[in-house]
Order: sequence, then structure tokens, then C-alpha cells
Amino acid sequence: MKTFYIETFGCQMNAHDSEKVVGTLLRQGYTQAADEADATLILYNTCSIRDKAEQKVFHRLNEYKRMQGEGKKFAVLGCVAQQEGAKIFEKAPYVSLVAGSASYNHLPEMLARLEAGENRITGLDDRQTDQTFDTEFTARSNPHRGYITIIEGCDKFCAYCVVPYTRGKERSRSSASVLAEAHRIAQLGFTEIQLLGQNVNSYRDPSGRRSFAELLAAVGEVNGIKRVRFTTSHPRDFTRDIVAAIDAVPTLCDHVHLPVQSGSSNVLRAMQREYTREWYLERIAWTKAARRDISLTTDIIVGFPGETNGDFEETLCLLDEVGYDGVYGFKYSPRPNTPAMHMADSIAEEVKVERLATLNARQREIQRRNYARHLGQVVPVMVEHGPNHRGQMTGRSTQNKTVNFACETVPAVGSYLDVRITEIFPSSLLGVAVSAPLAPSPTLLAQQALNARI
Ligand code: 5AD
Ligand code: SF4
Repeated sequence: MKTFYIETFGCQMNAHDSEKVVGTLLRQGYTQAADEADATLILYNTCSIRDKAEQKVFHRLNEYKRMQGEGKKFAVLGCVAQQEGAKIFEKAPYVSLVAGSASYNHLPEMLARLEAGENRITGLDDRQTDQTFDTEFTARSNPHRGYITIIEGCDKFCAYCVVPYTRGKERSRSSASVLAEAHRIAQLGFTEIQLLGQNVNSYRDPSGRRSFAELLAAVGEVNGIKRVRFTTSHPRDFTRDIVAAIDAVPTLCDHVHLPVQSGSSNVLRAMQREYTREWYLERIAWTKAARRDISLTTDIIVGFPGETNGDFEETLCLLDEVGYDGVYGFKYSPRPNTPAMHMADSIAEEVKVERLATLNARQREIQRRNYARHLGQVVPVMVEHGPNHRGQMTGRSTQNKTVNFACETVPAVGSYLDVRITEIFPSSLLGVAVSAPLAPSPTLLAQQALNARI
């Protein structure tokens, strides 16, 4: 019996990679175990974006080590695998396979070698590969919202970021293959599609047929699809036609996540972001000029080397000026191989902590004001889970806001209904369902059909 257990860390790209890895393993005759004790192969899909990610991985591997001697094999996948490479075998000799995301196409061969008893197998394609990881054998874990990767890797080389080193060079899938996957999952009952890419809007159709905005619109027109999201956009490649597409195609969600990283042009220059505050604000102005109320969210790094109090003030004032609906704030964390690692003027940890707290407090106030616009509105919601101990269901608005609501009858997860907003909180909305669930949810049958394909 070949059984596996997989643990996943990091971003949505990693979560979706794991769905594809699981699909590949099932295809290779493995079955998925509910916990590691029952598995013959344990895989660990890792993230190295911030903090002491490598240390955490080795710590976790040490725990695995206790299971040695039970005939188990261990594999380290993802960004830490690519970053640390064969060094992992030295620190953790019981690991048999180390593979970065750019090598997953070769997983079937690597698994065959593993089964033949080979140890120290590596799949470290670095920035060489032109291939994307397209597979029909994706074991999607959510039967309603399907991720589709449209572009992998990154060529931007921001000074702080490890991704260009861990996920390889930028490479896009053909729009025809993306659309074929969108149709396939729509037929299986998925109603929401989330297009993924490290820089999703840097998408370049290898066939030259469609721009990113045209691909978005085409996915939005796939029969059965009610919602289309896309993450993460890079300001450099954010074009006006993306806003025009959102205005024109109702299934495209009214939400843009556009990481700014800093409100100071000086810090942006040091970060090698290749835009200024003004340039960024122009993209925001396009988005705000849309006919639809497009919700804006962002990522911000505080405490980048050389960030002065004045620079940080500029970031706070940018928050006020844009009026984001959500901000993901991070303390700068030096990453191996990146140019910023060796930059002078590093910022003390206490200052980073303080700046992050100030940023979060300011943003909380902004959200309190912003969310008030939803009071009394009727918003369409996709049901995600519930009921909780108060009998409330939880769903998500098209703007990606969490909506908790009371409902006379418990609606199915994955169904859509309208909710009247009665109260606002800093990061959620509260309301009452005003319609019966629309379009019964696409069901477990979808997932079963998908698994049957595998
Ligand atoms: N330190 C802190 N935050 C980082 N991010 C990326 N690299 C780092 C780093 N070295 C943040 C950025 C990015 C998000 C996914 O993670 O804000 O947009
Ligand atoms: Fe982590 Fe970034 Fe790798 Fe995703 S791409 S797993 S966030 S380092």
C-alpha cells in the first residue's frame, strides 16, 4: 500500500501546488492518509517568504525523525527545498527527496526513483525551466472555489524578496489551456475561479492571443462561473484595461489586491520596486474612477533597511489617501540570497514592532470608516461555513469581505444568497439573509466527479 500525508505552508500558490501534487500522487497509485502515522511517504510543502522559515522546517523535520525506522520516507517540497537544496540531506539525512516547485513536472519520475529505493533525489530546476506545472490531475480541496495558476515564477527581483530565487523565472500558460481548465471545472460544478500568479497581471499569453484583461474577461464569461478573482497584481503591470474589464464583466469580482510595500518613493527605490508613490497612486485613481465600487487591499513592509520616521509617515499618509479595505502588514525580514540582506541601516526589531502596531491601528480606524458604506446595503454572499455557536453563517462578499449573517434555514455551503448588512466591524460585516439560497451549491458530487477523474 502506497500512502502519503502532505502538510502545506505559505501562500495560495503553494496551497494550489499541493492540490496538484496530491492529484499526481493519486494518479501514481498512492492513497491519501488522514495523518502522518498512517503514511509511508510524508511530504512537507514549505514557504520561505519571511521569518526563520528554514529553521522551522528543520525543527519540524526533527519531529518527523522520531518516526524513522517505521519504513517511512520523507520529501521536502516548495520554496525552502529550492532555497536550501541538497543541504537539507546533510542536516536531515532521513529526507529522500528535495524538490522545488519548478521541478514538479518531473514528480512521477522522482517518485519512481524513490520507490526503487534511491535516496537523495533532487528536483532543483532553479531559474532554468520554461515549463509550467499543468496537470489535469488536480485534487481540489474546495468543491466550489477552484484555483487556476496562469503564471509561475517572478522576474521582478525586488530587493527583499526570495521568490525569484525559489520559484524560477516568469512563465505563463497559454490562454487556451487556462480557458480549457476553467470550462472543465465549471462543468464539474465550481462557481468561483481564482486565477493565481506571483505577479498575476504580468501574464503574457505565449500564443499572443489574449492580454491579461482579455483572459480575465474570457474566464468571467465561462458558463456557470459566478465569480472570478485574481491575485496577486503588481503595480508595474497594472493596466487600465483591467479596471475596464471589471466594469464590463459582472462576474469579475470588485476587488483588487495591489501591494504597494511602502508609501515613500525613497524606500520604493531602495526596494527596487520600479515605481514611485505618484505612479502607484495613478493606478489607484483609475481603479477608483470605475463605475463599480472596487475594494482595494494591499501589502506593506515596515522597517526595510534605511526606512526613516519620515518614510514611515508617508506610508501612514498613503493609507489615509487610498482608504484601503484591508492591509497585510509585515516586518521586514532579511532573506538569503536577496540584495537587501546586506544593506546598511537595518532597523531595530523594537522599531519594526512599533511601526507595525501603528500601521495596524491606523488601518483599523480607516476600515471602521470605510466599512460603514455597507450599512443597509444588500450584498450577494457565497456561503462558506456555519452555523457557528450563535447560529450565524459565514460567507464572503464579491469584495472578499467576511459576512456573518442570520438565516431562517441553514443554506448549503457554496450556495449564494443576498444579505442585508445591519452592523459593521473592523474586518467583517454582519447581516440578515433576505433571499432564499440561489443556485444550489455545486455539491460534493463535483468533488467526487473530480476525484473519479483522478
Ligand atoms: N520581509 C517581509 N515581508 C516580505 N514580503 C515579501 N518578502 C518579504 C520580506 N523579506 C511580503 C510582501 C509581499 C508579501 C507576500 O510578503 O509584502 O507582498
Ligand atoms: Fe512562500 Fe512566496 Fe514561496 Fe509562496 S511563493 S510559498 S509565499 S515563499
